[in-house]
Amino acid sequence: MAIPDVTTAEIARELDAAALEPLWMPFTPNRAFKRAPRLLVSAKDMHYVAADGRRILDGTAGLWCVNAGHAREPIVSAIQRSAARLDFAPTFQMGHPDGFRLAAELAALAPGDLDHVFFANSGSEAVDSALKIALAYAHAKGEPERALFVGRERAYHGVGFGGISVGGIPNNRKAFAAQLLPRVDHLPHTHDPARNAFSRGRPAHGAELADALEGIVARHGAQAIAAVIVEPVAGSTGVLVPPQGYLERLRAICDRHGLLLIFDEVITGFGRLGAPFATEYFGVMPDMITLAKGITNGAVPMGAVLVRRGIYDTIVDATPGGIEFFHGYTYSGHPLASAAALATLAVYEEERLFQRAAELAPYFEDAVHSLRGRPHVIDVRNTGLVAGIELEPRPGQPGTRGLDTFVDCFRRGALVRVTGDVLALSPPLIAERGHIDQIIETLGESLRHVP
Ligand SMILES: Cc1ncc(COP(=O)(O)O)c(C=O)c1O
Repeated sequence: MAIPDVTTAEIARELDAAALEPLWMPFTPNRAFKRAPRLLVSAKDMHYVAADGRRILDGTAGLWCVNAGHAREPIVSAIQRSAARLDFAPTFQMGHPDGFRLAAELAALAPGDLDHVFFANSGSEAVDSALKIALAYAHAKGEPERALFVGRERAYHGVGFGGISVGGIPNNRKAFAAQLLPRVDHLPHTHDPARNAFSRGRPAHGAELADALEGIVARHGAQAIAAVIVEPVAGSTGVLVPPQGYLERLRAICDRHGLLLIFDEVITGFGRLGAPFATEYFGVMPDMITLAKGITNGAVPMGAVLVRRGIYDTIVDATPGGIEFFHGYTYSGHPLASAAALATLAVYEEERLFQRAAELAPYFEDAVHSLRGRPHVIDVRNTGLVAGIELEPRPGQPGTRGLDTFVDCFRRGALVRVTGDVLALSPPLIAERGHIDQIIETLGESLRHVP
């Protein structure tokens, strides 16, 4: 595969440790990385090319976002055309056609009356926007005391102060604990390996964990709660598939007490489960959906909140003149991102990629579960085209076995994702069976060799 625009000499220069130093890398052990960097220089379809020229099979759709495969021509040329035509349009008090077209297409794709769209630039911003919309909705209804958010243990909702407050990953909160949002409570997580290890699809046990929401309502009073936010499938914490009946129960309790339910679909959105959104896959309707990643196939940063019509109407109608919602970003619905998203949605539709994911899912399920019995594997869980393979941690060194396995896979030519001792797989939806086989074979080899 050609490596465009990057000469070997340039790559070699980049590999010089001093040249790597100024970049403060996110969610990365900086010093260790810079001693042994892993650089990617180009990508096409299912593969990356590493700086040393090796082809790396992408088992993670980049970072859960490149659902249609890399550098797809229709998306690339849409971005190029947009950049040449309209590089930027002010977002406040002005608009541009692609933003409105994209909102209409997303509204048509989403179920029911989730038909209004607020744009942001990342999943974190989408989450913060959704939380603010929930507060603004309460305010518009004359219920300003309705201000508490309910998140969940082990949840990942990005890195804004809102997101880490409702999130439940201790390391992401530790250094910032002194300044988290003050009014947040958390549901228990649903990870229950003692009862559910090696589940295929939704685990059988744990629907009753949703009942903890009743306890939270009893503790604070329903009238104090603005919204409940969960990932339908928790991704970044190591792929936690919701137990059978769990999301339905959460929705029922929210309905009983008049609480907004937000699904964070930054990972599950755009076909990951074999349906446009997890909302349709699980048949449970939230009041808002947060989106990012696959919305532009990862090609241009973009986030979005899908909002039910009644919420939009209530907030907008509460202010007959002037600005109704004091929130937004310079780059909300940026022309390049909008063009990329429109082209991405067209690729998803023309290639029937959501259906393709649904058709490939049983093969993927069998493949990932074939890792049961390999060294250190204590759980395999999956739904759609996402899977988590959990390894037994080394005594006193949690996370090191997972990290070593991830690095070994990369050395062998496959990109997987690691969080702690969980390896996550989420290949692009264009994957062929042979790609799945190669990812599983590579992972199996790594598991045999990594102590
Ligand atoms: C469920 C969920 N919400 C929010 C985010 C944050 O998205 P971003 O990194 O684009 O801010 C992520 C990122 O992985 C995510 O998985």
